[in-house]
Amino acid sequence: MTAEQIARCIVAEAVWAPSVNNTQPWRFVTGREPGSRPVGQHASEQDSQQLSLHADTGRSLAVADPDGRELMISCGAALFNLRLTLRSMGYVPETSVLPDPTQPTLVARVTWRERAASDEFERRLFSQIRRRRTHRGAFDPEPLPPDLLAALRSGAARDGAALRIVADDGRRAALAAAVETAERQLRQDGERLRELARWTPAPGCACRDGVPATSYPARAEHTDPDFPGRDFARGHGWGMPPLSPATSIRAAGVAGLLTTAADRPADWVNAGQALQRIMLTASASGAAVALHSQPLELPWLREFIRTQLSDGAYPHLVLRIGVVTQMAVSVRRDPGDVLFASGGDHADLGRG
Ligand SMILES: Cc1cc2nc3c(=O)[nH]c(=O)nc-3n(C[C@H](O)[C@H](O)[C@H](O)COP(=O)(O)O)c2cc1C
Repeated sequence: MTAEQIARCIVAEAVWAPSVNNTQPWRFVTGREPGSRPVGQHASEQDSQQLSLHADTGRSLAVADPDGRELMISCGAALFNLRLTLRSMGYVPETSVLPDPTQPTLVARVTWRERAASDEFERRLFSQIRRRRTHRGAFDPEPLPPDLLAALRSGAARDGAALRIVADDGRRAALAAAVETAERQLRQDGERLRELARWTPAPGCACRDGVPATSYPARAEHTDPDFPGRDFARGHGWGMPPLSPATSIRAAGVAGLLTTAADRPADWVNAGQALQRIMLTASASGAAVALHSQPLELPWLREFIRTQLSDGAYPHLVLRIGVVTQMAVSVRRDPGDVLFASGGDHADLGRG
């Protein structure tokens, strides 16, 4: 395979990463970009074996995410897919995160020179990239597979983040209350609602981004304690009908927090990589993950969670993990729309 063909393959998988409101705030540039080669060094064959991941700030949420934290988490998740896909192809990715302080939107550069066969675990994770979906709603009452939580925790640590399970009843109720308080506040904020509307298309829309009505339930599924979801339907009644008649034994799942020790852009990228590792690992074990970022978009509630529920570590997402039959369908832009050649040409690189 040529370097360009490899770039096309890995971008085709990277775009299946989760992103806030499915904004897909990324673009990829293949080949060595001006400025990334030391002065005096000439272009070589290896120059083409490089892909840069850029944050697409035109897709950021100016109201909900003014610092770009969720944008960077989303790009971090895409970076994890890039690395995992290279591993599945037998390459050893070398990654440099935020390599150029003069280009804060250059999230990472990834090169691949050496080869080494992928292992069984990497192949299992890779097989979940397109299968995994964000869950919205309640879970079945079945317990999680044994050892899954330990695997998720150690996986998050490998990417420089932490998954903190919130098991204690009182703390779990406090976390649910934070989600509920945030969701109530967000639903009354006209500016936020207008921003959300840009990413919540009506059913039948041919859109390739945003949260489609095929990916959330038409009727909110309440649990005890209740972690309300976002109002993607915006009162229109859109969404998927329930799979089976509601029973009283639907569960909230195991609640947790994804955190990092510091709160710099590099930590946000790490959190994104850890998030995608968690979601793929859960999916490979037949479990699913629900995400709630509502309370983390309100500084006072984020600070409450940091000081009261995560021992001072910086929280990025509330997660719920559980077992469920999933029917959600999501959408993505064509990889050809987000892959560019260095120098700016993207006409004949992306598709095919
Ligand atoms: C930083 C971040 C925040 C998110 N916040 C939420 C959320 O509050 N509620 C939710 O239902 N999904 C949330 N998601 C999941 C996205 O909506 C989801 O990844 C996107 O719609 C694509 O769907 P998929 O993950 O099923 O492929 C979040 C994802 C990321 C990366």
